[in-house]
Amino acid sequence: MGSLSPLEPLFTPLRLGAFSLQHRVIQAPCTRMRSTKESDGVFVPNDLNVQYYEQRASKGGLMLTEATPISRLAAGYPGVPGIFTQSQIAGWKKVTDAVHAKDAIILCQLWHVGRATTPGMLDGQGTVSSSDIPISGNALDGTEYASAPPRPMSVEEIKETVAEYAAASKRAIEAGFDGVEIHGGNGYLLDQFLHDNVNTRTDTYGGTIENRSRIILEIITAVTEAIGADRVGIRLSPYNYFQDTRDSNPQKHWGHLCSAIASLPDSSRPAYVHMVEPRFDEILDESAKINSLETTQEAVQPSLDGFRTALKKGGVAFIAAGNFKPDNAGEKITSDAADAVAFGRLFIGNPDLPKRLQQGWALNEYDRTTFYGASPPEKGYTDYSFYTASE
Ligand code: PHB
Repeated sequence: MGSLSPLEPLFTPLRLGAFSLQHRVIQAPCTRMRSTKESDGVFVPNDLNVQYYEQRASKGGLMLTEATPISRLAAGYPGVPGIFTQSQIAGWKKVTDAVHAKDAIILCQLWHVGRATTPGMLDGQGTVSSSDIPISGNALDGTEYASAPPRPMSVEEIKETVAEYAAASKRAIEAGFDGVEIHGGNGYLLDQFLHDNVNTRTDTYGGTIENRSRIILEIITAVTEAIGADRVGIRLSPYNYFQDTRDSNPQKHWGHLCSAIASLPDSSRPAYVHMVEPRFDEILDESAKINSLETTQEAVQPSLDGFRTALKKGGVAFIAAGNFKPDNAGEKITSDAADAVAFGRLFIGNPDLPKRLQQGWALNEYDRTTFYGASPPEKGYTDYSFYTASE
C-alpha cells in the first residue's frame, strides 16, 4: 500500500445524525453580506447567493449557512439574509435546491445577536441581552454600543425567544434545509447567557452555570422537538473573546454544558456540537490569542478535548473549527479529537476545497477585504477559481 496523505482521514464517510457524509470537510458558517434588501432589516437570498453555495456544494459534503437571523429583531445587519419572511424562505429554497442537485447537505445556522446590534438597525427598538452590560466600542453603523445599553430579557421574552428558534427551525425545513445549527457561540445572544462576564442575572437564567445554560438547553429541546433531534447541531465557542465575552472558567463551565447536552433524552439530544478552537479569534491573530489565554485564563492548557470526551459519552458527534490548515486537519481526526473539521476562510477562497484537499492541489489565497461585502458583490464571492491542471 502506498503512503497515505495526511488529509486522507478527512475522506472517510461519517454518519452525523440523519446525514450520511461522504467526507469530513465541512463548510463553516461565514457572514458574507450579499443578499438583496427588501425593506429595512429584511434581506433575501438572491441568485448570486445561490451560485455561491452551489459552487461550494460537493457530493455528501456538509455545508453550514452564514449566520441567519431568526426574526426581524434578531440582527438587523445589512446584506444578511434572515429566515423570518416568506420571501426569505423562497430565496433560500433556491439555494437548497441547487445544493441538493449536487448531493450536498445544508443546514441553516440560526442566529440572534442579542446586544451585538443597535436600535438604528432594529427600527429604533432597544437591544436585548442576558443583562444590561453593553459591548465596548462602536457597532457596524458607527454608533457607540454604550449609548443604548441592552435591556435584560424578561423571563417571558426568554420563553418567546425559545419559541422563535423552534418556529425558525420549521421555516428552515420549509425552505428545504436538511436541518439547522443553533448558533450558541461567538459572543451572540446565547453566549451572552453562557459567559459569566456578561450574564449578571440573579434569576433562574443567571448565576450558576446550570442557570446560565438554561436558555440554550431549552432552545435545543424546543428545536429538536420541532424538527427532530437528528437534524440539529449547535455551535459553541468557550474561549471566545469576540463581542467582549471572557469567561472565568471555560473548561468547567462548557464542560458542564457538554455533559448536560450529552445527558439529554434521545429525542432532544442533538446530532453534533461544533466548537471553535481556543487559538481562534475574530480579532487577534493566533499567537496573540494563545498568549492572552495563557496569561489571563485557566492554569490548564486551553483545549477542546474535555468537551469532546463529555459529548462522546452521549453519542454526540464533534466538529472542530478555527485556523485548520492542510497540515493539521487530518491529525484532528486520526487522534479522535473530532469527527469532522470545518473550514471558513479556506472555503471562501476555494469553491472546490474538498477536492483540492483530497488531491493535494494548491489552494487559492483568500482576500480578507472582500469577506463582508464588495463592489461588485461577485468580487471575492463567486469569482474564486476552481482548480485547473495548468495551475
Ligand atoms: C460577523 O458577522 O462578523 C460574524 C457573524 C457570526 C459569527 C462571527 C462573526 O459567528
